[in-house]
Formats: sequence, C-alpha cells, structure tokens
Amino acid sequence: DMDKFITELMGKMTLEEKIGQLHQISGGDVVSGELSSEGNKVAQQIRKGGVGSMLNAKGVEKVKALQDVAMKESRLKIPLMFAMDVIHGYETAFPVPLAMASTWNLEQIEAMARTAAIEASADGVCWTFSPMVDITRDPRWGRIVEGAGEDPFLGGEIAKAMVKGYQGEPGYATNTQIMACVKHFALYGAPDAGRDYHTVDMSRLRMYNDYFNPYKAAVEAGAETVMSSFNEVDNIPATANKWLLDDVLRKQWGFEGLVVTDYASINDLVRHGIGDPVSTTIRALEAGTDIDMEAYAYHYMLPEAVKTGKVSIKLIDQACRRVLEAKYKLGLFENPYKYCDVTRPSKDFFTKEHRAKARQAAGESFVLLKNENNLLPLKKNSKIAVIGPHGNNRPMMLGPWFYPHDIYRAATVVEGLKEVSGGQAEILYARGCQPFESEEYARRVYFGKEFEKDNRSDEEILTEALDVAGKADIVVATLGESTEMSGESSSRSNLDLPKPQQELLKALVATGKPIVLVLFTGRPLTINWEKKNLSAILNVWFGGTEAAYAIGDVLFGDVNPSGKLTSSWPQNVGQLPLYYNYKNTGKPMDKWFQKFRSGYLDVSNEPLFPFGYGLSYTRFDYGDVKLSANKMNEKGRLTATVTVTNSGDRDGYEVVQLYIRDVAASIIRPLKELKGFQKVFIKAGQSVDIDFEIIPELLKFYNYDLNYVCEPGDFEVMIGCNCEQLKSAKFTLVESM
Ligand code: IFM
Repeated sequence: DMDKFITELMGKMTLEEKIGQLHQISGGDVVSGELSSEGNKVAQQIRKGGVGSMLNAKGVEKVKALQDVAMKESRLKIPLMFAMDVIHGYETAFPVPLAMASTWNLEQIEAMARTAAIEASADGVCWTFSPMVDITRDPRWGRIVEGAGEDPFLGGEIAKAMVKGYQGEPGYATNTQIMACVKHFALYGAPDAGRDYHTVDMSRLRMYNDYFNPYKAAVEAGAETVMSSFNEVDNIPATANKWLLDDVLRKQWGFEGLVVTDYASINDLVRHGIGDPVSTTIRALEAGTDIDMEAYAYHYMLPEAVKTGKVSIKLIDQACRRVLEAKYKLGLFENPYKYCDVTRPSKDFFTKEHRAKARQAAGESFVLLKNENNLLPLKKNSKIAVIGPHGNNRPMMLGPWFYPHDIYRAATVVEGLKEVSGGQAEILYARGCQPFESEEYARRVYFGKEFEKDNRSDEEILTEALDVAGKADIVVATLGESTEMSGESSSRSNLDLPKPQQELLKALVATGKPIVLVLFTGRPLTINWEKKNLSAILNVWFGGTEAAYAIGDVLFGDVNPSGKLTSSWPQNVGQLPLYYNYKNTGKPMDKWFQKFRSGYLDVSNEPLFPFGYGLSYTRFDYGDVKLSANKMNEKGRLTATVTVTNSGDRDGYEVVQLYIRDVAASIIRPLKELKGFQKVFIKAGQSVDIDFEIIPELLKFYNYDLNYVCEPGDFEVMIGCNCEQLKSAKFTLVESM
C-alpha cells in the first residue's frame, strides 16, 4: 500500500533527495532540446534528484522531456509533478472566474473546471493552481477577477464545484483528472486599501465567519493541495504561520494534503521583517509549508540546517512524505508518463464541444446592468457601429491569467455579431480612442508585453468613430478595462473607465444615436455617468475565446441574460470596502442623509449596483415568503416557499436568492447573509414555487469563543432577485426539549 511503498522509498533517499522533493522550480525557460547538454541547469538539478515538481513547463513534449530526465537519469527515478495556473480554461478560454461566479450555475462552473482539466492534462499538467477562493470586499484589489466575489457562502459552493471539476471522482482513475490547489491561504483578498500584497489585519471572528469558509469548503471537498498566501495573517506571513497552516488547516479542518508556497514567498519573509534567510526558511518548514516554489530557500538552506541540528529531520520527512503521497495518489509511480500522451493535444484542445461549453458559459456570465425601454435585444437586420478598442481585438477577449498556445484564437466582437446575425446585420467598426490615458500607463499595465497602439492622432481616431456612428442605426460601444488591468499586481485607486474612453462615450452620446455599452472588465467599476446617460449596459467581463459569439447571442436575444453580480459595485472608491452583508451598527442610516448616522456627507451608503443584481429581457415577480412553520428546534427544519412568476414575454433563467438574518445573538451578526440560491428556468407567463429547506446548519456562526453554534431566538428569512429586493418572513429557533 501507499504508506509501505513510501516508507521503503524514503529509506533509500539521501537528505538532499528528500529536500529535492520539496523544491519546485520553473520550467518557463526550458527548451526541451537543450536538456541533454552538459551545462543545462534544470537538467542537472533533476538528475541529482534535486527537484520534486515544476511549474510553467508548457507543452506536453517539454513535460515529457523533463520527465525523461527524472526517470532515466536520476538515481531513484522519482517522477516529477507539473503544475500550471490553469485559471479559466487552458486552450479554450472560459470567462474569468468572477464572471463564471456571476452565472450562479454550479454545474456550469464544474464543467469549466472539468474542461480545463481535460485540456491541461493533455498538455502534461497534473496540478493546477486553482481555485482561487479569496473573498474580497474591495475591487481596488486587481485579483478580484480571479475569485468568486464577496460572499462566503457562494464562494464555498463555487470552491467545491471547481475542486470537483478538476479532480473528478476520488482516485485519479483517468489521465484527465488533475490536482486542485486552493489559494491563497489565507485572507489574500483583504489587503489594506486593496493594494496587492499589502498588510492584512483582521479579527479572528471575521476570519472564521466571513473569510475562511471557501477555503474550508474546498478542503472538505477533497482539494489535494493548498497554496499559502503572500500576505500576513495576524502579524505573521502566511507562509511562516504555524497557527494558520497547522492549527487551522490541518488540525481543525483535517487537511491531509500538501501545502505549497506562492512564488518565491519564502524569500519574502526576510523583507516582511521576521528574521534572516536561514531562520525564516526553518520557520516556514516548521509552520507546515511542504513545497518551496522557486525561492530556492529549502534547496540552499535546509541541508545545512538539518546537519547542524537547527531543524529536525522529522519535519523534512513529513513534508517529503506528503509530496510523495501526492505523486502516488496521482498514479505517477505506476505510470510516470500518465500525463505525457503526445497524441492528446490534437484531440483534446479547443474542440467543438469545449468551445460550445465556453460559449454557453460566457452567455450565462454576462450581467445586464441596464436596459431602458427595452433597447435590447437588437434586431438582427440592423446596421450596427461597433466602436471602441475592445471591438476588434482578439487577446482582449481572454482576460488575465490565460496562456494558450495561440492568443489570437478568439473571435472579435465584430466577427461575433456578423456570425450570430447570420449575415443579416451590417457591422461597421471604428476604434474610437486609445484604451489608456497614456502610453506610460499602458506600459505599466502590459509590463513588457505588446499592446496594440494606434499611431493616428486622438482627433483622427475620434472623427472616424463619429463618422461611422453617423452611418449606423445603433452604436455598440465596446469599452472597459484592458485584459491586464485586473489581475495580479493590478490594483487601482480609481475605478472609472479610462479617460479617453469616457470622452469617446460623451461624444457618442452627443450624436443622439442609441448606444449599448458592452463593458469589458475584471472588477466592479464606478460607472455612474454611464449608468445615468446610457440606455443599455451589458457587462461582459472577459468572456474568453468564444465570448464574441456569446455577445452576439445576448445582444440579438438568442440568449436571455441571467448573470447576477457577486460583488457590490460602488458609486465611488471612497465607499470601499463595500459589501452587502454588513452589520447594522448602533447608528444605522435609514435614508440618506441623517446627522449622527453612519454614512458620508457626499455619497449615500448604497452601492451603484448591489450584490446579486442583474436584469433579464423578461420580468420576474416574487410572491410572499411562506414558511411551513414559525418555530423550529436545533434538530428540526422548515421550508420557505416563494412563488416566482415570469410576467414578461420571454422564457428565462432567474437566480432566486435566500438570505437569513439572526435578529439578536450573543455577538453582532450581519443584517443578512446569503444562505441558498437556485437558478431556475421559467417559461413566459408561468409561475413556479421555489422551496428552500431551512436547516440549523444555515443558522450557525462562530461565537465569541470560536465555537460553531446556532442560538435560539428570532430569525428573518428573505428571498428575492438580489440582496436588496427581498420579501421576508420570521421564525423562531426554540431550545430543544
Ligand atoms: O499560482 C500563482 C499565484 O496565484 C500568484 N503567484 C504565482 C503563482 C504561480 O504562478
């Protein structure tokens, strides 16, 4: 069995070989053909048994060549694991994770992860650094695009779906199942002021009640690996935080898999200011960090530390065992080339089936923010002016964290509209403006990557756009963030559309043509002016390779939009952090403005668009909430029912949301918390009864002593179409006899 096999193997390993298993290096620059040359540093390390896993070795041929070095030239022939950031697809790009969350469709999300696993595993990847489940309440933080938004319950459900999608049924019976990695443990989404990697300082109660749930849910769903975060938790960097990695993760949650650092984060420990390179490296190991990603800290410092008695060999053994267990579970000892089938890419990449799934997911992820006078859907035989830098640009469809073999594979909006209209629509295009305020800004955003520049003067570009708009029935303005404006290290202190785009929109509005804003973004934006002055806004995020067709599907009404926001959109940056599940305070503001109430002089407390918000081409009406009883005890349950009627003239999906409030408790509880949701298809004119089971589990929270309890007393049950438009009913939780 596994334990015996690993014990025997470890019996043969030298200290250096054991530490080798804990050393993860990048294969980004590896050229397969050069691995056999004497001086190749990567091959040298693998040959010596000095590497346990690699990241970013892209391409199955390359992976196979690297595995060959381990299997044919190293002493113990221990297979390598190959990891990659497979975040929203691999060759077929799905919408970015924040967009996928907006589908509120767990099957769709699981299918995305499954499809990504199939494609990635065809290319040699057996381990993805996904899902990112960090809750965030601050869209200044650029990595909001990679997560599920602000809600712990929804985040937990999505985390489970993704783990299941990547890993499949337990046992890794097929070579399309890959290990998931829950990241970034923990609290990475809560840096001060939304600045990436910045200080996090949070009460334990907030951690347990608001931020931990998605990580815990993923662990309970069987996630094989966890990545520690760059930030500090309770004044100790996560990577060196024994309370976090050992007490919480392993002891309280029962996690048995391996913990990997974020990129070179053991090196960061010195800069955090908790010690010198040797002591911090030891501290990371002692905290429970198994794999050192790219810091070379374990590699350089642990051998000596063991020999001088600074660190116990037991800790090395424990970490090494966890790495070998992962390899064993994946089946790599049985078949080291399980993920090296070079015939797979041509069969499994970018297939018709995968693309169809991505297109469907994209259509479901779009959020209709405004649609005055039913400007949408458009007639297929219209003359449409697509205006804006995003309208005719392939890589711009993809979003951050996406590295396919070909970044020019996505269709453009212009192509998508032509195709979906079946050639009926006449599509004109003009760029309209530069995507950024300055070239310097663009260089920061793209950080060495190419961006498409237009060398004409701003005036020339605008004149052309107004000319094109003048010839059309309707303008589809394709604007927003560029692909790299959200994502890692892309924090922003201003969430408006870039200046040149605002100016373009104003000029277009002045023409009097009807305008639909098709908004590209990886985060909530402060689009006050746009909301006020435009009739229709469809938020399309970054929808992936098939997004252009999905945009056509929705704009022309073949697909009725059903996406709903999973993070609050602020009116301005000064409101941040902003979230729907806030607490009442002693001085709540009922309506703006009241003196001596918790609020601002210059802006209300309301979001621009609330959590859970999104329109449809039809209308859904909600009846009153009916409860099967008005009392239950801690072992009981009751049913809350609401009738939802599609009172428009189109069939459509509605996301019915359940919120609960614990009216009075031993600690202060939020005014409402999402505790359930159902995405239902309702035909035009039909009514459907939606039932939610209210079980004690949904009433529980961590109390002052961090015990997970529900407390007798009154509860409010709220059901509706977003976190603000809700119908409610009350019941009492009574003490059991
Ligand atoms: O997985 C990522 C992480 O999210 C950010 N830093 C780099 C890691 C590996 O690429």
